[in-house]
Amino acid sequence: MADVKNAAAEGFDVGKIRADFPILFREIYGKPLVYLDNGASAQKPRAVIEAMQYTLEHEYANVHRGLHYLSNTATAKFEEAREITRRFLNAPSVDDIIFTANSTGAINLVASSFGATLMEGDEIIVSHMEHHSNIVPWHFLRERRGCVLKWAPISDEGELLLDELAKLMSPRTKILALTHMSNVLGTVVPIKDVIRMAHERGIPVFVDGSQAAVHMTVDVQDLDCDFYCFTGHKVYGPTGIGVLYAKRQHLAAMQPFMGGGEMIEHVGTDRITYASAPHKFEAGTPAIVEAIGLGAALNYMMQVGRDRIAAHEAMLRDYAHARLGELNWLKIYGTAKDKGAIVSFNIDGLHPHDVSTIIDRSGVAVRAGHHCAQPLMERLGVAATCRASFAMYNTKAEVDALAAALIKAHDFFA
Ligand SMILES: Cc1ncc(COP(=O)(O)O)c(C=O)c1O
Repeated sequence: MADVKNAAAEGFDVGKIRADFPILFREIYGKPLVYLDNGASAQKPRAVIEAMQYTLEHEYANVHRGLHYLSNTATAKFEEAREITRRFLNAPSVDDIIFTANSTGAINLVASSFGATLMEGDEIIVSHMEHHSNIVPWHFLRERRGCVLKWAPISDEGELLLDELAKLMSPRTKILALTHMSNVLGTVVPIKDVIRMAHERGIPVFVDGSQAAVHMTVDVQDLDCDFYCFTGHKVYGPTGIGVLYAKRQHLAAMQPFMGGGEMIEHVGTDRITYASAPHKFEAGTPAIVEAIGLGAALNYMMQVGRDRIAAHEAMLRDYAHARLGELNWLKIYGTAKDKGAIVSFNIDGLHPHDVSTIIDRSGVAVRAGHHCAQPLMERLGVAATCRASFAMYNTKAEVDALAAALIKAHDFFA
């Protein structure tokens, strides 16, 4: 790419970053790959691929159970990944970090375990811009326990309406479950203010950081959130691994979500006691190699520098808005003051699936559909959008390639 040296952030060399991601050098239909589907899943740096391969080739065994060399080594590496994750979130202790399958697993864990104490008429607040992962598990509580789901509205720009949110909070509100960054609009929610508002009323807050953890520095102690989750494959790590952070008092009070090996202290014929967190919530053999891969991914992000990544992506966001803003037949969804490098759009008269299919022929990968956010699509009055979502390895030249491919698609149908 021509502008690989172009970096908004000092000391950030996007060309050097790109060299760490082998897949970026392949071609699609004979064209250089322009991968702008990072909101769905990010590509993996060599550090992750090699950490996983090394584990499988040299250090693989089941964890926690064995007394032999390989099991001890695998356990140490697995627990080291937990410590890296603790550092990534600035959690107070490794005991507050639970490995799950993904964000969906983390949210289901909280909805099931924390939700087990909820009664008919208890209220759960979500927003109109949640991913289905942060809606459906709460709907289960509505369907199965008679809880009430309340929906925090957003403005036309895609900003959470804080005054309206405050009005929804009542003595029956048992939890607020909100995204930190919208996967469709890119909106960054002022989550620290929201948490303060909720805590003033004694309401705990679950934060879905699936997108935010990729693009900004997250400090769970500074946020003072009760729960925070993210998913490995979006932070340049593997699939099959996710993270739930929770405050200790919640983990101590919550009943386990799944039962099995690893999570018990003692099992008798008529009595069972559980291990303490995090193991209480990690029944069965965990995703060992994936956790180690996640550790390598988070280390990679921290070495590059999360503030530097954020600065580079802010430059890409501004450039993408400027370039796509020039196209008067294209509508952008989501213009919040604080937004990440995610740009959703539609072209007048064209179905987003057609747009995505056509620009794919130019090597440009974007996502089209409802993005697992149907209540948001309803709020926006559309069935679907196209979404270009950026990562640390994207360049201004790739934004230009996106704009050129969109112009070609538009001209094709004109
Ligand atoms: C905001 C948000 N929440 C939750 C998820 C679910 O992540 P996973 O499918 O890895 O569990 C996603 C994935 O797209 C997301 O963007």
